[in-house]
Amino acid sequence: MLKLLGLSGSPSVKPRCSKTLIAIEMAMEFAGKFNPSVSTEIINLRDHDVQFCDGRNPEEYEGVTQEIIKKIQAADGLLVATPMYRGSYTGILKNIFDIIPNDALAGKPVGLIATAASDHHYLALEHELKPLLGFFHAFVLPGSVYINNDHYSEKTLIDVGIIDRLRQLGEGVVRLYEHLPQEALGASGPVIIRKVLTT
Ligand SMILES: Cc1cc2nc3c(=O)[nH]c(=O)nc-3n(C[C@H](O)[C@H](O)[C@H](O)COP(=O)(O)O)c2cc1C
Repeated sequence: MLKLLGLSGSPSVKPRCSKTLIAIEMAMEFAGKFNPSVSTEIINLRDHDVQFCDGRNPEEYEGVTQEIIKKIQAADGLLVATPMYRGSYTGILKNIFDIIPNDALAGKPVGLIATAASDHHYLALEHELKPLLGFFHAFVLPGSVYINNDHYSEKTLIDVGIIDRLRQLGEGVVRLYEHLPQEALGASGPVIIRKVLTT
């Protein structure tokens, strides 16, 4: 059974108003409908008091930070969603990618969603998020979903084209998982040991 984990990186304080959360919930629902044996869970990062990365080894984090690390490690596939902030992904999402072990996403299918005010930063998905996932040796779906404010009316995602793209993304991550060539991960990167000076 595929364990699909969603990571929503919007720090939006307005309860239930995050466009990013709305989008990832929809994509996860499509994944679950496509294959009912898929288990889905979304971590809305703003709801958790995650420690800042300070360079320690990932297993040394405690509490909810450790719980989130473990859930990411245990996931078979992920959907990652972020609002565009200054042409890139948000700080709380960056922090999670700084904290998790280097091999936490290796060989896993990952689908990407970005929300933004306008279409100006569409390529940030290609230049910012895909290289990051590349470092982690994840299999990123080529087609990401980029959503702008005009695709919503208040708290509702109304653009039928975008809704269909979210369906394709949700279904795509399940399909990719079913066909993953784990033996074709390619070469591993250099082994990087985290060293913390104690004095
Ligand atoms: C600090 C900040 C920076 C932003 N930077 C960008 C940006 O560079 N490009 C853009 O299109 N939208 C930008 N936005 C708009 C958000 O990406 C957009 O409103 C998004 O849908 C918010 O998602 P949320 O409702 O899930 O928080 C920015 C918003 C904030 C608060």
